[in-house]
Amino acid sequence: MFFSSGSDTPYGHYYLWDPGLVWLHVISDALIALSYLSIPFTLAYFVVKRRDLPFHWMFVCFGIFILAGSSTHAMGVWTLWHADYWLSGSIKAITAIASVITAILLVRLVPHAVALPSPALLRFEIAERSGAEKELSRANAELERRVEARTAELKKLNEDLVLEIGERKRIEQTLRKSEEQLRLAQQASGLGLWDWDPRTDRAVWSDQTFRIFGLEPDNQKLDEARFVALIYPGDRTAVKLAIREALRPGGEFDAEYRMQRQDGQLRWLLSKGRTHCDAAGQPFRMIGLTLDVTERRQAAEDLRRSDERFRLLVDSITDYAIFMLDSAGFVTSWNTGAERLKGYQAQEIIGQHFSCFYCDEDLRKGEPAMALREAAAAGRYEANGWRLRKDGTRFQANAILTALQDEKGALIGFAKITRDLTESRLAEEAVQAAHDELARVVRASTLGALTASIAHEINQPLAAIVNNANAARRILANPESDLEEVQQAVIDIAEAGTRAAEIISHIRSLLKKNAPQKSLLDINQVIREVLALTTGVLKKQHISLRTELRTELPPVLGDRVQLQQVLLNLIMNGIEAMNAILDRPRVLVIRSERRELGLEVAVKDYGTGLDPQHLERIFDTFFTTKASGMGMGLSISRSIIEAHNGRLWASRDPATHGATFHFSLPGMA
Ligand SMILES: Nc1ncnc2c1ncn2[C@@H]1O[C@H](COP(=O)(O)OP(=O)(O)OP(=O)(O)O)[C@@H](O)[C@H]1O
Ligand SMILES: [Mg+2]
Repeated sequence: MFFSSGSDTPYGHYYLWDPGLVWLHVISDALIALSYLSIPFTLAYFVVKRRDLPFHWMFVCFGIFILAGSSTHAMGVWTLWHADYWLSGSIKAITAIASVITAILLVRLVPHAVALPSPALLRFEIAERSGAEKELSRANAELERRVEARTAELKKLNEDLVLEIGERKRIEQTLRKSEEQLRLAQQASGLGLWDWDPRTDRAVWSDQTFRIFGLEPDNQKLDEARFVALIYPGDRTAVKLAIREALRPGGEFDAEYRMQRQDGQLRWLLSKGRTHCDAAGQPFRMIGLTLDVTERRQAAEDLRRSDERFRLLVDSITDYAIFMLDSAGFVTSWNTGAERLKGYQAQEIIGQHFSCFYCDEDLRKGEPAMALREAAAAGRYEANGWRLRKDGTRFQANAILTALQDEKGALIGFAKITRDLTESRLAEEAVQAAHDELARVVRASTLGALTASIAHEINQPLAAIVNNANAARRILANPESDLEEVQQAVIDIAEAGTRAAEIISHIRSLLKKNAPQKSLLDINQVIREVLALTTGVLKKQHISLRTELRTELPPVLGDRVQLQQVLLNLIMNGIEAMNAILDRPRVLVIRSERRELGLEVAVKDYGTGLDPQHLERIFDTFFTTKASGMGMGLSISRSIIEAHNGRLWASRDPATHGATFHFSLPGMA
């Protein structure tokens, strides 16, 4: 056993177990061992805390050496009682090795340790250093200041740079925008840009130019030959000539030509360019624009055609003089109607002043200038008056002057339309005369239908005359005759004669070819005169007549004969409508009433009545439902009443059967 002792005698034996001696050893060794033991821990703590110290491995060696020493002393206590000398010897040997190593290391360390600076030196060094440090911090501060200044400079530079970058971006954006705008403008206006260098025969086209030629932009060589090949063969020579012509200082290329697109469509193009030459007069650049003008040419052509059509139209009008004046009143155009109306040929009147159409009295009044002024101010001026023909004869004219303005509203001239009123007046008069004649014929035919009853009407007074005359003759034959009786008979004769004469005069006036004459009339009187002619026919047709004539009606301004014709037509229609009525009384009612602005007359019958669908058509000329009717009665009647500023209308009353015709006339207060 290694730890067993060689002998069984513990060390205390050698102290003779003298307690004093033993305890001296025990306590001393124990205290040494404990003290020694504390040192390595303290050193270990110190080493851990001051890792910056130089040679600190030396402290570790010391620690091990002292720890070994401590265990040697602890073994000294142990061996007092136990004789483990091998163990104690081994520990001692370890201690010896540690001591030797430590001693060697210490010896080798000494020169280094000696070299460590002394505290004074350190203080000096520290002072030195702090001086240097101050210097350093000053230098540092200076450096920092410079760095700061530099940084500020850099910052400023950076800011400037940022600003500049921003500015550039803005410029770039603006440029891009304006490029885009240019592109859009080119697209919108359809303008294609091109730039050609005649020396190298190289051209650059904008995308729009390609499009105009019906191509997609490409990178193929663009030279004169390629351009010419795109042109319609018939126009190539002219374009090539125009290019050659333009290739001189200040030369301008201007050509309108056709181009056949790949889809076969022919388009009209317009190219304009300018040549730039060097000092020697050699062209080095031609730059220009190309535009598709097909639509514009088409529009111009359409305009020319419509102008032509308009001119033909104006020329074909022969009843009106249609001509143009410039803003000062000089004739600029002349149509066939104007030639016919005024007698001048176009070549002799164009350039003359239009005042030559006016007669002296109008010229003295300053009419032509006034007409131009009025037309320019109001846009239109119309007047009737005398005008002169070329041969000096006069004619009544209606002239309309219309001011012509350009798109900005500036006066550029006048259009004048002159109508010969002599002709239209004659025509109007002829229509009126025909109308009157027709009315007279219709009246005559109505009266013809009344002949029998009129004869009867006249016969009555004639018979009365004859009777009274016979009676008078008989009385006078008797010498004792009563003259008073004769007188009465003569009075009756005279009255009957007057009555007959009145009827005849009515008939005559209805048949006379008199021009219409208006006078103040009592409408009731007019009604009575018509009834005097119709009582016979009413009686014959078993029609009872009812008159409801209001007194105190205002007088009307009218033509007696025409108003009688209206009443006659209405009464005859009423009688005819009751012809076929056998199951109810035949009654004709004639009413006159006061109305707010005059009066109203109504003729009511109890006849067949009116078809609601025909209520307005019955007033049309030639509308009739009668076998022998002309369909003229109501249409003539309506035109007569309207010429009297009145109204004629029909109403139906299904409850009482029959129809009522009303007419209103304005009253003269
Ligand atoms: N009182 C009435 N009742 C029913 N229908 C009527 C009456 N008056 C006119 N009409 C209808 O109106 C039509 C036109 O009447 P209008 O007097 O214009 O012509 P007409 O009597 O037929 O012929 P004429 O020219 O001989 O008068 C008549 O054919 C008839 O159908
Ligand atoms: Mg009739």
